[in-house]
This record gives sequence, structure tokens and C-alpha cells, in this order.
Amino acid sequence: MTKKKILLTRRWPDTVEKRLSVDYDVTLNTDDVPMTIDAIGAALNDHDAVCPTVSDKLPASIFTGGHRARILGNYGVGFNHIDITAATGAGLTVTNTPGVLTDCTADTALTLMLMLARRAGEGERELRAGKWAGWRPTHMMGTRLGGKVLGIIGMGRIGIATARRAQAAFGMNVVFFNRSDVSAEKLDGLQAMRLDTIEDVLAASDVVSLHLPGGGANTHMMNAERLALIGPKGMLINSARGDVIDQRALIAALQDGKLGGAGLDVFEGEPDVPAELIAMENTVLLPHLGSATTETREDMGNMVADNLDAFFAGKPVPNPVS
Ligand code: DGY
Repeated sequence: MTKKKILLTRRWPDTVEKRLSVDYDVTLNTDDVPMTIDAIGAALNDHDAVCPTVSDKLPASIFTGGHRARILGNYGVGFNHIDITAATGAGLTVTNTPGVLTDCTADTALTLMLMLARRAGEGERELRAGKWAGWRPTHMMGTRLGGKVLGIIGMGRIGIATARRAQAAFGMNVVFFNRSDVSAEKLDGLQAMRLDTIEDVLAASDVVSLHLPGGGANTHMMNAERLALIGPKGMLINSARGDVIDQRALIAALQDGKLGGAGLDVFEGEPDVPAELIAMENTVLLPHLGSATTETREDMGNMVADNLDAFFAGKPVPNPVS
């Protein structure tokens, strides 16, 4: 039987590329640079499946209908880079990779939190620049996280995993906002209080961590007014999507001292990062490393492979995006 032809828009972990190449005719983007929108659009017409990542853009304009491709196997949990309505309207099934990157992304949120509170990036820069003048009582004093309030916006899998770590490891008190109720079963012993509004959480928290999908109504939900509610000593952590924060408003809030600091793994217009954020000492900036462990990236790839296998076997896909 002829193998189905699939496109991976970026290089994937070796083990997964090898697994896929057993059953599929795999087109690899050997240069591992972002493909253009037009190139991905064209690939829909000569592949049975296209497997994009968060660094691709798949707008409505490429889903013209009548494509050879019948499935988009997204390598990642977030899918705001794909116009899902247009894709499904053009007859494509879309799948994603929920669950397998929860722990890693929560670890990244905690990394940002701790680095920011304890000025770890700043300290490392000082030392590497040969500017460390030795131990002294008032040198680079940070903020103790123990006993502080962590506010989670978006209490899904990753929000809960972040809260659980912050409570267990740092002894933080957790409040959260979530549009719908979060069952005691999901909280599973986590002591966390649901507040009525996002504003309530921002005002009550020393550290705010965002765990919302990007795009749609969430775009710029952290605007100037909301950023100011966190306050001059408050810290904002974002390991979700860059567009959830109005980046210009964030820069202004940090420059004007209305917000204490920001730890960011994601940015609007990645991979461009504004020079103002880079120049500030009260920011910790990571290059979208949320899921970047070998184990997780392999799990993500295998999950895409499982979805493709099910789809081409005529079975229900395990992880459909609706
Ligand atoms: C995702 O999966 O949405 C992450 O942002 C990339 O790992």
C-alpha cells in the first residue's frame, strides 16, 4: 500500500521522525527554518497530513478547500496559530497534544517566578561580567516567595500544576480566576480560593501567573489598567501566549514602576523581543522553552503520530481540537 505523505514543518526529535518514517512518506523541512504561509498552503495540496507547530501561521486564506490534506496534526497544545474555523470548514480534522506538556510548562512558570523573585538572571549577568564585588548584607536582595500570594489566571491543567508546585515547594497561598467552576476532584487537595473576577485576583496577588490560551477574547486581556492592579512590588509571569499581554502596556508599566517585574517565556511577535524588555533588570526572558525537554518533545511527537495513525486507520482521533 502506498504510504501516506505527511509534512513536518520543523525538525522533530529524532526518535519520532524515525517512528513516523516507518509508516509514512515524511517530508522534512531539513533547514529547520519557519516555512512561509504560502509554502504551508501549497503543502496542503500535495500531502495527506500537515503537522505544524506554534512557530507557523495557518490563517484562513490558505484553507481554500479541495485540499489533498485531510488532517493537521499540530505539534503542541496551543493552536491559536491556526484558523480552526477555516481549517475545519475546509474539511480538515485538527488535533493537538494536551496533557504531556503540563508538568514541563508548570516547571517553566516556577523557574521564571524564582528567577525573578531572587534576581537570578541579574546576579548571573553581574557575575559573568566580572562585576561581583563580593558578599555584603545588602547585595541584590530579592523577595521571599514563602507566604506570598500567587494568583493564577486560568486554572486548567497547567494552572493547577503551577499552583500545586508553588504551594508545595515555596509555601505560597493560591487564589485564582477561572471562567467556570473548578471541581474539588481537579484541585485534588490543593488549597486554592476561587475569586469572582480577574481584577480581584490581580489586586490580591504578589505574583500573578497566566495560563490562558492565546487569541480571540484573551488577546491583550492584560491591559494597562489590569497591569497596574498587580502593583509596583508585584510580579507577572507568562508561560502561556505572548498576545495575552499588551506588550507595549507592559513595557510602560515596568518603566513607570507601576509593575514590579515580569518573567516571560512567550512574546507578541516571537521571536522578536522588544529592546526595552531586554534592557530592563526587572525582567526574566526565556525563548519559549515551556515544553522544551527531550522527554516532553518526544511525548508530543508520539501523540501527533498516534493521532495520525488513528485518523488514517479510520478510527476516532484521540485529541481532536473542536
Ligand atoms: C504549546 O504546545 O502550545 C507550546 O507553547 C509549545 O510547546
